[in-house]
Amino acid sequence: MKDDLNVSSNARPSSKEIREEIRSEEFSFGFEKVSANTKRNRVNNVFTNVANEYDLMNDLMSLGTHRLFKRMLIEISGINCGDQILDLAGGTGDIADLIYRTVGNTGHITIADPNLQMIEIGRNRLLDAGACNVSTCVCTAEELPFRADTFDKITLSFGFRNFTMQYQALSEMRRVLKPGGSITILEFAKPKAQPLRNLYAQYRSLWPKLGAFITGEKASYMYLNDSIEVHLSQEDLVEMFRDAGYVSCFYTDLLGGVAAIHKGTKPINDH
Ligand SMILES: C[S@@+](CC[C@H](N)C(=O)[O-])C[C@H]1O[C@@H](n2cnc3c(N)ncnc32)[C@H](O)[C@@H]1O
Repeated sequence: MKDDLNVSSNARPSSKEIREEIRSEEFSFGFEKVSANTKRNRVNNVFTNVANEYDLMNDLMSLGTHRLFKRMLIEISGINCGDQILDLAGGTGDIADLIYRTVGNTGHITIADPNLQMIEIGRNRLLDAGACNVSTCVCTAEELPFRADTFDKITLSFGFRNFTMQYQALSEMRRVLKPGGSITILEFAKPKAQPLRNLYAQYRSLWPKLGAFITGEKASYMYLNDSIEVHLSQEDLVEMFRDAGYVSCFYTDLLGGVAAIHKGTKPINDH
C-alpha cells in the first residue's frame, strides 16, 4: 500500500485540471469535451444500452478478475456487522450481494445509482437472494438525497470515472458519512510498468469488438476504453481525496496498477 505519494502523471488530467473542468464547464466524455448535461445523458445512455449484458461482459472482459477486485474492495473497506452502508454507483448490485450478510439484520445497505435499468437488475438480484436489509435509491453521486452523518462506510466500484462533478461527489460523500466513516473506491487505474501498460492497452482494444459481438453495442465499449484512458492517475486521485477533506488517504494497486483501491476517512471531528 502506498501513502502520501506526489508523483504526477503527464498522460492524464491532474486533480487541479479536474477542478478547472468544473470552472470551464467542459467535461470529459472519453476524449471529447462536452457540457455537464451532455455528459450525464450520454453516460446514462451507455449504461441503459449495456445493462442486460453488463454482468456477463464484466466476466468476459476481466476474465473474472473483477470478482476478486471487488472482494478486495470489501476487505479494505472493513465492513462490520451493524454498519449502515452506501454502495454508490451500485448498478447491478453485486457489491451489495457480497456484503448484505456481513452487515446482518442490524445493518443496512443502500444501493444508489441514477440508471433505472442497472438498479432494477440490482434490486431484483437482492430480492431473489432474500436480502431484507437492502434498499435502492435512484440518484446521482453529486446530489445525494441523504441526511448528513448517515453512513458508516461508502463503497464505490467502477463508477467514479463516470461522474460529471468528481469533487462535488467526494464532498457529498463526506457530508453523508458519519465522522470517522470511510469511502473505499475501486476504479481502473494506470499500470506503472510501461510493458504492462502497452499489453493492457492492446488487450483493452479487444473490448469494443467483444462488446459489439455480445451486445451489438460497440460505441459503449469504446467509451469504456476512452474513459479509462482519461481517468485520473492513482496519485492525483489521492490528492483529490485530501483536497475534498479526507484524512488517512491511501491507495493500493491491483494487478500492477490495472485497477486500484483508494480509501479515505472523514475526520472524527467533522460534523
Ligand atoms: C461501470 S458501472 C459499475 C457498477 C457496479 N458498481 C460494478 O462495479 O459492477 C458504473 C455505474 O455508475 C453509475 N453512474 C454513472 N454516473 C453516476 C453518477 N453521477 N452518480 C452515481 N452513479 C453513477 C452508472 O449508472 C453505472 O451503474
